[in-house]
Amino acid sequence: MPYAASQLTCTQCGHDWLDADYDLNVAATAWQAELKSRPFTLWRYWELLPVKNSDNIVSMGEGGTPLLRAENLGLMLGHRHIYFKDERQGPTSSFKDRQASVAVSAFKEAGITEAVVSSTGNVAISYSAYCARAGVKLWAFLTSTVPADKMREVALYGTEVVKVTSTYDRTKTVANQFATHKGLVVDRGVRSIAAKESMKTVSFEVAEQLGQMMGGEWRAPDWYIQAVSGGLGPVGVWKGFQELHQMGLIDRLPKLAIIQATGCAPMVNSFRAGLAEAENVSDPQTRITTVATGSPGAVYPFLRNIILEHGGTMESVSDDEAFRAMHVMAKMDGISMEPAAAMACAGLFKLLSQRIIQPDEVVVVNISGHTFPVEKHLLDEQRMHSVGTAEAVALTRPAAPREGLMTALNRLDGRVNRVAIIEDEPDAARLLRRILQAHGQYQIFEANNGLEGLELIRRERPDLILLDLMMPELDGFTLLEILKKEEEDLRNVPVIVVTAKELSPAEKRRLDGQVESLLQKGSFMEDELMDDILGALG
Ligand SMILES: Cc1ncc(COP(=O)(O)O)c(C=O)c1O
Repeated sequence: MPYAASQLTCTQCGHDWLDADYDLNVAATAWQAELKSRPFTLWRYWELLPVKNSDNIVSMGEGGTPLLRAENLGLMLGHRHIYFKDERQGPTSSFKDRQASVAVSAFKEAGITEAVVSSTGNVAISYSAYCARAGVKLWAFLTSTVPADKMREVALYGTEVVKVTSTYDRTKTVANQFATHKGLVVDRGVRSIAAKESMKTVSFEVAEQLGQMMGGEWRAPDWYIQAVSGGLGPVGVWKGFQELHQMGLIDRLPKLAIIQATGCAPMVNSFRAGLAEAENVSDPQTRITTVATGSPGAVYPFLRNIILEHGGTMESVSDDEAFRAMHVMAKMDGISMEPAAAMACAGLFKLLSQRIIQPDEVVVVNISGHTFPVEKHLLDEQRMHSVGTAEAVALTRPAAPREGLMTALNRLDGRVNRVAIIEDEPDAARLLRRILQAHGQYQIFEANNGLEGLELIRRERPDLILLDLMMPELDGFTLLEILKKEEEDLRNVPVIVVTAKELSPAEKRRLDGQVESLLQKGSFMEDELMDDILGALG
């Protein structure tokens, strides 16, 4: 039947899962002739999008996001073909900008001037921006667990915000009832043609970009990984790859990896249990509210069938795994993303470690939203340093080279066999021990306070000392001063200071010339994480 934005069910079977069909030959011919000369926004693929009149397009430069290769992370993992589709770079910083642009353009084409949306945050932000621009009044129904900063962002655009103290699934029901009552159009997510079609543009761009980066015209990845809530993303992306395949532009279809939060993983659990229909999760237990959809409905069998037919998997990650992946991505490759997006990266690490993804396979991970602002529970204030200008100048003069433990060990290598760890914090001691164990064959001695540390040094005569500064009984500064008065062979043992605090100018003077290097706790997190990931990979 001909497409109309207002048509919600099939006129023949009454079903509400509608799919758009196009004359792919027309698109293929047009793209071959002129695609390269079109601007790099999602509207460059307009032949395969459900907006007929270009005057109705509501655009703010959405789509056209970079495909970034994993640099440091790729090296660390020994995997050179990991790419991130950087959806943070949309007008409201999430991949939902694609959906909002196409859906609100379709509203405009259908003459719709008031609409309702339910959301876990990003959809509401994005629709609000596009509705403001298109002159559409928007009602956004949000779960009360959506971070306050996101709610304020929605309100900023003039949207009517309705906070529902319940699950996201219940919020959707309330929004639908409200829309019916008021006679308004409600955004239907994956059951809306516009939303699904918009997501195809991720695949079109990825295939074009991979083609350019890897040689050739178009290229599909071997894997496409995305964190899902309702699952709109992969449903639309899959349709995009299918159309490219039917057009003869790509020679393969990717395997899909669907990632959910352990505390709300109806698809993953049902997939593992071999169920044809999803068993819903009625009480989601995840702090990552963005992805807390407990009832995936028809999306689950749809994605399951694709995976059973074409390969791929469904995997869950814990909130903590997602938060750690978020830190790794920011620290290793300079990419800060929101926890929902980091879930996809945590999923990537898991699939690599389980050898489900092979080292030579080309992987694209959708990093779908930006960390603005970093939620408080993810980063405590201790990571910030406040200094006055005089102190700031002093801080620029290092008391000793600042480097990772690996670097320091490599520099001293060959000369070091026996290492003493003088550290009172068990976690820090364990981490130092683990890094040493992972790095080489060291004989390790440990003491958990300064006094015992001094005895241990005198007794064991190590080749290297890893020394904490803040310790009970005898602190690291004093221990160092005593050590420097000892006989020559002890006096000259290299000392790497491990500190949790930013040193004051006076403290720096106390260490001046006395230590081999300074290791900032928290910054050797990289080493910890590297070990962790490499360890996980076996
Ligand atoms: C950043 C981010 N990632 C992932 C998702 C999951 O989206 P979906 O399941 O609709 O594809 C969302 C949904 O809002 C999101 O905002």
